[in-house]
Amino acid sequence: MTIELAVLVSGRGSNLAALLDAIDAGGCDARITHVIADRDCPALAIARARAVRGSIVAPRDHASREAWDGALADAIGDAPWIVLAGFARIVGARVVERYEGRLINVHPSLLPAFVGRDAPAQAIAAGVRISGCTVHLVDRGVDDGAILAQAAVEVRADDDPASLHARIQRREHVVLPAVVHAIACGELTIEAGRPRWRDPSGGAWLERAAPSDEDADPTR
Ligand code: GRF
Repeated sequence: MTIELAVLVSGRGSNLAALLDAIDAGGCDARITHVIADRDCPALAIARARAVRGSIVAPRDHASREAWDGALADAIGDAPWIVLAGFARIVGARVVERYEGRLINVHPSLLPAFVGRDAPAQAIAAGVRISGCTVHLVDRGVDDGAILAQAAVEVRADDDPASLHARIQRREHVVLPAVVHAIACGELTIEAGRPRWRDPSGGAWLERAAPSDEDADPTR
């Protein structure tokens, strides 16, 4: 069953583009009904170029954080699923409570390691050999909700934060649409805030479906 999504963005919008591409290619049974940004950003331009409704709900246009949070909830409205695809702000209690269990985030590390900003830089500074991406539910904590899917990425000796982030994003662009599709086809359900996969491997197929480093552009 096709599911409807509101997508929250702040930045470049490569995850938004990956979702739209997967939908157009028939690999993600979803429809993006609204893209909401906290600022003018390239992601919003992608939405508009692809005939998806786009709006800005900027904190500076609201008297308080609570007022902004309320305006964000109003903009999301009755969207059944909400994807935070590079949304650079912590959503407030009003949004989290209203949409709990239906709010999905993508983060560029293997959570619970490296929460918050600059996760690829944190991974390099910590000297880990493997990092990756996590698609998870949003709860009241920061990068803290139940994990839906992850994919691992090798950290290379010559990586800088930008090169590692670029390889992690290649995985994000596969795993995020795959999670949305899994929800749409009933493979993945959220029961009492906990993810439940229909297949006994717990959705491990999805993590393997992500492209491997060997597929990466050798010039990058
Ligand atoms: C992604 O790496 C995501 O994990 C993080 O923000 C980045 C957004 O990138 N939350 P983009 O705007 O989708 O290109």
